[in-house]
Amino acid sequence: MMNIILFGPPGSGKGTQAENLEKKYELLHISTGDLFRYEIGNQTELGVLAKSYIDKGELVPDDVTIGMLKNKVNANPDVKGYIFDGFPRNEYQSEALDNFLAEKGQTVNALLQLDVDDEEIVKRILNRGKTSGRTDDNDESIIRNRISVFNDETAPVYDHYDKSGKSTKIDGIGSLEDIFGRLSAAIDAAV
Ligand code: C5P
Ligand code: MG
Repeated sequence: MMNIILFGPPGSGKGTQAENLEKKYELLHISTGDLFRYEIGNQTELGVLAKSYIDKGELVPDDVTIGMLKNKVNANPDVKGYIFDGFPRNEYQSEALDNFLAEKGQTVNALLQLDVDDEEIVKRILNRGKTSGRTDDNDESIIRNRISVFNDETAPVYDHYDKSGKSTKIDGIGSLEDIFGRLSAAIDAAV
């Protein structure tokens, strides 16, 4: 098994790159943001709850997110590994993920952080908002709050995996192909 955390601020290109890495390495791409949006689209209880946080750019409570993530992994056991996109979002979630994988005799093999500066992020997300239909992509103050939440709550996840030498920073600026090449090289080096 090979388990990769694709990490980085909102709008850093995680989703786009994860789709290509999923094919190359035959992993299952799990985007917790996409799972929430699916629930919101179906107006489930989970979706209604998640929307109240997402619309402010805040994090959905840990137990909700962790439960949803575990369900997705448990429903898809026959894969070569997982690409976690948008999860873990804080230190608590990373410990929950480590324990969950350990119960299965697995571990996180690498965390790859896509580095993109704040002004580029705001520009990219506002542009994505023209077609994404996401309310949280269309309001600059919500976007800036998402960046603050990333810096305050999510950034420590990098250090969590850096302690065991698993974290790597990747330049997230450039062509999709170039960034894909950098990510692939980092994965190949990690396994
Ligand atoms: O990962 P993505 O940027 O698609 O997430 C969109 C929103 O979903 C976040 O701003 C946050 O409100 C919520 N989210 C969360 N916890 C996660 C993933 C997403 O609260 N693990
Ligand atoms: Mg995404």
